Amino acid sequence: MEVMKVLHMNGGRGVTGMGDSSYANYSLVQQKVITMTKPITENAITQLYYSTLPKNLVIADLGCSSGPNTLFVVSELIKVVDQLRRKSGHDQSPEYQVFLNDLPGNDFNTIFKSLPSFQKKMRNQLGAGAGPCFFTGVPGSFYGRLFPSKTLHFVHSSYSLQWLSKVPEMVESNKGNIYMAQTSPPSVLRAYHAQFQADFSMFLECRAEELVLGGRMVLTFLGRRSEDPSSKECCYIWELLAIVLNEMVSKGLIEEEKMDFFNIPHYTPSPSEVKSEVQKE
Ligand SMILES: C[S@@+](CC[C@H](N)C(=O)[O-])C[C@H]1O[C@@H](n2cnc3c(N)ncnc32)[C@H](O)[C@@H]1O
Repeated sequence: MEVMKVLHMNGGRGVTGMGDSSYANYSLVQQKVITMTKPITENAITQLYYSTLPKNLVIADLGCSSGPNTLFVVSELIKVVDQLRRKSGHDQSPEYQVFLNDLPGNDFNTIFKSLPSFQKKMRNQLGAGAGPCFFTGVPGSFYGRLFPSKTLHFVHSSYSLQWLSKVPEMVESNKGNIYMAQTSPPSVLRAYHAQFQADFSMFLECRAEELVLGGRMVLTFLGRRSEDPSSKECCYIWELLAIVLNEMVSKGLIEEEKMDFFNIPHYTPSPSEVKSEVQKE
């Protein structure tokens, strides 16, 4: 499956982006995650501001989607920087360049349509003295280069990196399952882990090129506590979906062969798996 071509959150309808089944209406969990990690994000941007005092602050949000969270993180980051600037008595505000990245199928149009009102709101909230904010949409996979070398000061990504670049290549069928399950052959579990390693290390390699010296990165993604890759904490949701799909196969609604080759390109690593890739980079 070509994830790059098919994966996208449901877009919105109209300027508000609030169609019934749009991601905008189903992103409350992700919003909670952003709120939970806010102290970490604020701490990182504070350290960045004081250590680099940039004239142009370049921020990238990777896997931005299209919904209320898309501009929320960025607006919070800009507010923090503006408060720090005022507190430190700097009259000169940085100019902000914001790159919003997602896969090409993302509903960038809805984001672009919401920008004029967002910018107006930001100007009102920040008042005079805050620097202008320029937005750019960047369609493409974050498992490859997206920006020129040494251009980014701050990289943020929330609830996106658990998606793999592709379905892992398997030497055995994962029959009856669509993800790593207790009954999956060990080779399937190894294939998933290998795909995570290849993808995550590529992500880190690319960002290492793109970040300026002293740049910061806050990445939030789904993981698991257990070292067992098929533990219930990460796989249960997919096991439930597999039960439904298997039932549809038994009723002849889905061809068995299609089910045999359908697997989800998703991986929730353990802390030690993440640490190991970070240390290699
Ligand atoms: C669950 S949404 C999270 C969106 C937003 N960050 C939030 O917190 O609400 C995951 C997003 O990651 C994007 N995504 C997945 N794989 C990607 C990739 N390889 N490159 C860029 N974006 C990707 C998806 O298209 C989707 O919009």
